[in-house]
Amino acid sequence: MMKVKIVADPTAGGKAGYELFAAALENNARVFGLATGSTPISTYDEITASNLDFSKCISINLDEYVSLAPTHPQSYHAFMQEHFFDKKPFSKSYVPDGLNPDEQEETARYEKLIAENPIDFQILGLGRNGHIGFNEPGTPFDSITHRVELTQSTIDANARFFDNEKDVPRYAYSMGIGTIMKSKEILIEAYGENKADAVKKMIEEPSTEQVPASVLQQHSNVTVLIDQAAASKLTKKY
Ligand code: F6R
Repeated sequence: MMKVKIVADPTAGGKAGYELFAAALENNARVFGLATGSTPISTYDEITASNLDFSKCISINLDEYVSLAPTHPQSYHAFMQEHFFDKKPFSKSYVPDGLNPDEQEETARYEKLIAENPIDFQILGLGRNGHIGFNEPGTPFDSITHRVELTQSTIDANARFFDNEKDVPRYAYSMGIGTIMKSKEILIEAYGENKADAVKKMIEEPSTEQVPASVLQQHSNVTVLIDQAAASKLTKKY
């Protein structure tokens, strides 16, 4: 059963996300899975401004662009430094190594890292098409960490952040859907009207590989944290 929590706006979502993170920590969670993107920022702001002590915990991020150095401003390493780790660090934080050109080696290394440090609490954002991590529609539910070829629409959308279209990464490393599903507890956040269709499909329609986030219906401990705009297409009562 998915627990659905509807809040007024992303600011209220940040407070609710913080409460869930704090409760997990209190219940001895030691490995936190983290996402990038705009959605979790309000939750990260609350966590990093708090006096929670997670200095002995580790974090493992969902994904990273292949070919970008950790110092590249568009890398997910840089995003996490700015929005989380520079403000309040974990004892160790892992993000896939976008500079490792050996796809086999990097994906196996990351999958092993997660097997050895099972994720207690995973934070996810929801893509407009229902993606989680870089797992686009059609990705098998049992997929493990893999290299993803970005779609042309994602490349085009990212082009504005780069000097030259040629500099936009063509690939990313991402935890697979099966990898994500091994997390003991999952929090997926979504805010804004442009997520309302994906939220509806994730929660109220049959679970299908065409909507990656709908796999979460099959997980035993998931909280869906959404604002009123993202909840606007739901028809059941929560
Ligand atoms: C980020 C990630 C993506 C985003 C999703 C939503 O690490 O893996 O799946 O969570 O694209 O992005 P935002 O939050 O920017 O709307």
